[in-house]
Amino acid sequence: MLSEATPVFTFEPSPSRVTDDARALMLVDPGFGRVFTDHMAIAHYSADEGWHDMRITARRPLTLDPGTSVLHYAQEIFEGLKAYRRPEGRFALFRAEANARRFNASARRMAMPDVPEAMFLESIRALVRADKAWIPDSEEGALYLRPFMFATEVFLGVKPAAEYLYIVMASSVGAYFKGAPSISLWVTREYSRAAPGGTGEAKCGGNYATSLIAQAEAIENGCDQVVFLDAVERRWVEELGGMNIFFVFDDGSIATPPLAGTILHGITRDSILTLARDAGIAVREEPYSIEQWEADAKSGRLTEAFACGTAAVLTSIGSVKSADGEFAIGGQSIGPLTQRIREKLVAIQRGRAADPHGWIEELS
Ligand code: PLP
Ligand code: COI
Repeated sequence: MLSEATPVFTFEPSPSRVTDDARALMLVDPGFGRVFTDHMAIAHYSADEGWHDMRITARRPLTLDPGTSVLHYAQEIFEGLKAYRRPEGRFALFRAEANARRFNASARRMAMPDVPEAMFLESIRALVRADKAWIPDSEEGALYLRPFMFATEVFLGVKPAAEYLYIVMASSVGAYFKGAPSISLWVTREYSRAAPGGTGEAKCGGNYATSLIAQAEAIENGCDQVVFLDAVERRWVEELGGMNIFFVFDDGSIATPPLAGTILHGITRDSILTLARDAGIAVREEPYSIEQWEADAKSGRLTEAFACGTAAVLTSIGSVKSADGEFAIGGQSIGPLTQRIREKLVAIQRGRAADPHGWIEELS
């Protein structure tokens, strides 16, 4: 059992906060992951002392010895979640406990220490309170929180490190895909993201490193994002580099690939499944092949497809291209069911709809 005592992150206010005027300018069009706040949460771990020295402090560069083991063997994991503005100046976290659980599932896979759930949650609450002025109040805006942990032991032997740093950064963000009504996908035939027994279910930096060459291939082929197939048969659709995927059918049902060990257990994915069931929509978690996808898109059986994640929310997929050709989906703009589920989810996150599943934690 994890200790439920709430750890204290000592607050050391930044001596060089961005002024209100400068921050207002930075929040006009923040994009994604470029505008960072004044503070960060930080905690140290050693095998002898456990987690200690927990602080909210000025965001600043780190100094690392070149022999720091993460730089060599990539023992690193991260999370992504958002704080949203709500009516009457309030703000809230969405399903942060689910991120805490997934962080620890990733930690176990990467032979890293658990971060007690109470510590994970408190680091986020304390950082959001310190930097609440950085939560944009635009419709698409939010404060994106990036907890991460990495091995800091200076040692070149290949073994789990005995020392780690845990940090949470916050970034004021707008839409991940700006402006486009839908995105185009590139199906990579050459590269796999994850294999059975590998790290596909873990949110570790290495998964993203291996996806970059395929993402670059997508861009070279005029597409926005890469979609990965399974590594064994190379035909079952898995997920995008940083998003899960859903399919919508002409009988009003929706489907998404099952969590069979190689794809991330997306919290947006899980929320969509829950909201769809609430709405009486038939949902299936089942394998779907690229051949079937193409056939269904062409016959009209498949009417919509969308990508989903914390950063991307729900984003329509308008076309799919591979070395063998290209097919379009629906009207290539956001479809009615995608739109309906998106609105429901966003309304819960932003306090415009009730929260029947206890997903919201308001902070003050
Ligand atoms: N799949 C991958 C590989 C991701 O990086 C993400 C983003 O976190 C997701 C799916 C969606 O997960 P979530 O909805 O929890 O953000
Ligand atoms: C997220 O949605 O939180 C992610 O981690 C995806 C990343 C590609 C920005």
